[in-house]
Formats: sequence, structure tokens, C-alpha cells
Amino acid sequence: MSDQTRHDEEMSSEISGFYKLDRATRLKIIAEKLGVNPVKLEEILNSGGLSASEADTLSENVLGVFAMPFSVATNFRINGRDILVPMVTEEPSVVAAASHGAKMTRQGAGIIARCTKPIMIGQVHLLVPDPEDAQKNIERAKTEILEVAKKACPTVVSLGGGPQDIETRVLEDEKDAFLVVHILIDVRDAMGANIVNSVAEAVAPLLEKTTGGKALMRILTNLADKRLVRATASVPFSALSSDRVSGEEVANLIAKASRMAELDPYRACTHNKGIMNGVDAVLVATGNDFRAVEAGAHAYACMSGRYLPLCKWKVTGDQLSGEIEMPMAVGVVGGATRSHPLARLSIALLGAKTAFDIAQSAVAVGMCCNLSALRALVTEGIQKGHMNLHNRRKVLEV
Ligand code: MEV
Repeated sequence: MSDQTRHDEEMSSEISGFYKLDRATRLKIIAEKLGVNPVKLEEILNSGGLSASEADTLSENVLGVFAMPFSVATNFRINGRDILVPMVTEEPSVVAAASHGAKMTRQGAGIIARCTKPIMIGQVHLLVPDPEDAQKNIERAKTEILEVAKKACPTVVSLGGGPQDIETRVLEDEKDAFLVVHILIDVRDAMGANIVNSVAEAVAPLLEKTTGGKALMRILTNLADKRLVRATASVPFSALSSDRVSGEEVANLIAKASRMAELDPYRACTHNKGIMNGVDAVLVATGNDFRAVEAGAHAYACMSGRYLPLCKWKVTGDQLSGEIEMPMAVGVVGGATRSHPLARLSIALLGAKTAFDIAQSAVAVGMCCNLSALRALVTEGIQKGHMNLHNRRKVLEV
């Protein structure tokens, strides 16, 4: 049986009362699900997964390691498959919010996620004498430029990806005329920064020759708006009721809270922060570049010229329907995804074979954190649940 089949057959993410169990029992359950020795799993998790000497190979001027809580969110059903989601966050309530949100969505059909092709954009910013002329010349030389681009990333080309197309934009101010060249690259299952930057640097001399211009910068854009994940969920009213408020009323209040985030950028910022609480936690756990995704998410949130919520909720029939769309530049190869032992463990726990598997989990967790936060905000407020967890903390005197 393949690993993936075993993962699919055995994994149920609904583990009743997981949060009430002691840590040893939780470890035993997860070890069983992963098919690994619980003692070994505990050993890895007790050490934070990374020795100081391993850390020394990842960054510069390293003195040691900085540990963070490694948790598992339960109840997720994404595209009909149950998934236990690893999360690394120090903030109380985030894992609880994710699991609770997932519990509400699984009372419908769970979360349905779709992605575009993994297209990343490399930018070459050229200072040119005549931008319109330069644009025409690049259009004429497209095939030659793409050939040079392909030679700069043979591995991803051999995997069926690589440079696909070239686009240009003219930007001018009172002093300069810039031609911004976008090289669109299918990076397959990598986050893609190294591939894209190598391609941008490789094609820049030819672009200079073609346009008579000078390349100012050659770098990817983190606004990965051609590499999107879109997820939807329909939550029945019955999953939303609280002690004092009916499910229908909660759904209507959540829809109004979502609308408020569309009208008020001050609220949209906090709304999106709650989404990124979940997204980042999955990205850290899987060794992905959460700063890149954060930057892309907030830039994408203002693509219309106004900062908007990434996730929106509305009432349709007897359900609360949610929709989230955001760029997701993540990978299952490269960077810390392979070099950090806990990232590998996280990827195994997700059963992730492709970058999309990670991307959809991160987006689903973001969506569920948002749902839980809005439900709490429009009913009892968030402080009650939050402070219960906060009070468990030991405060260190320095
Ligand atoms: C706290 O980290 C996140 C929230 O503020 C999100 C929100 O207000 O939607 C609770």
C-alpha cells in the first residue's frame, strides 16, 4: 500500500476531545496515525526538531535555537479528505480557533479548495530610452528570451514546468521611463524564489540588448497573483448556534461582520490578521517562507485599490457560505521544507505530496480561524476563551 493510500484510509481528523487529553496521549495518537514510534516522535518533538549545530547551517551568526509550540489542529476535511494539520504558533486560541472552525465546516461538506497553476513571476526592471519601442522589441524576441530563461532552470523544465510567457508593463514618472518585464514561470512543487531569481538574472543581459536599456533589478515578485488558492465552505445554521443566540442569527451577524471588513480597512486589517494567524502557523510548521506569503496576501488584499478582507461570508439559504482567495507561494521541496526535521514531519502528517497540498491546508486553516474569530466576536467576544488560555502561561521574570 502506498503511503498516500495508507494516509487516506486511516486518517480521521475528528478526534473527539483531543484538546482535553494529556500531551503523552496526544503524542501516542499522532504517532499511531503517522505509523511512527511514539518514543521517537516524542524525542524529536521534545528537542524542537533542530539541534544548535543544524541551526548553524540554516542561518548566520547562530547562537542556538528558539523553540515554539508545535500543535495539531483537528477536524479538517478538505476536498473530501480528512487531514490533521500541524501548526506552529505561540498565540493562545489560534489552534483552538482553527479546530473549532473546521468542526463547523465539516458539518457541511468541509472545505473545497482549488488552485491555479503554480506560476510565479520574475521581474526585470529596465531603465529604457523608449518604453513603447522596447515593448515591441521584447514581443519580437519573446521566443529567444524564453529559450534563455529555460536554460537557466533545467530541473524544473525537466519536471514539466519552467518559463511559460513574458509580459511587459510601462511605468513612468517625471524623470524616468521604466519597462517592467514579467517572466511567468511554472515552478511545480517548489516555492520557486531561487528558480525565479536565477531566471531573472539570466535573461537580464538579453533584455538589455533587446531594449537598449539598463536592468536596475532582477528579482521575483511576492505578489504571486497567478498562483492563487480559492477555498469555499458552506456551514449549516445548526453548526453556528451558541447558548443564547440561534444559528441563523449568528450566521447573519457573521455576514454583517464580513461586510464591515469590506467597508472598513481598519477592520479588514484585523480580519486578515486573524486569517494569517492560521496560514502562518501552517507555513512555519512546514518550513515555508511565511514572510513571502504574508507580503503577497496583504498586497493581494489591495489589488482593487482598496484594502479588502481576504475571506468573505454571506448567508445563502439556510447556510453561511464562505469564500477565501489568496496567493500561495509555498513548496514541498527546497528551503527548510527538506532541511528541518519537524518540517518533514509536518509534511508527512499532512500527507502532502505537492505544493498545492500545503497551500490548500494553510488557506483552509486561515479560513477556519476567521470563521471562529467572527463567531466569537459577534457573540460572547473573544476575550473569554482567550484569557482562559492566557492564564495558563508562566510569566518569566527577567
Ligand atoms: C487575534 O490574533 C485575531 C483576531 O483579532 C481576528 C479578528 O478580529 O478577526 C481575533
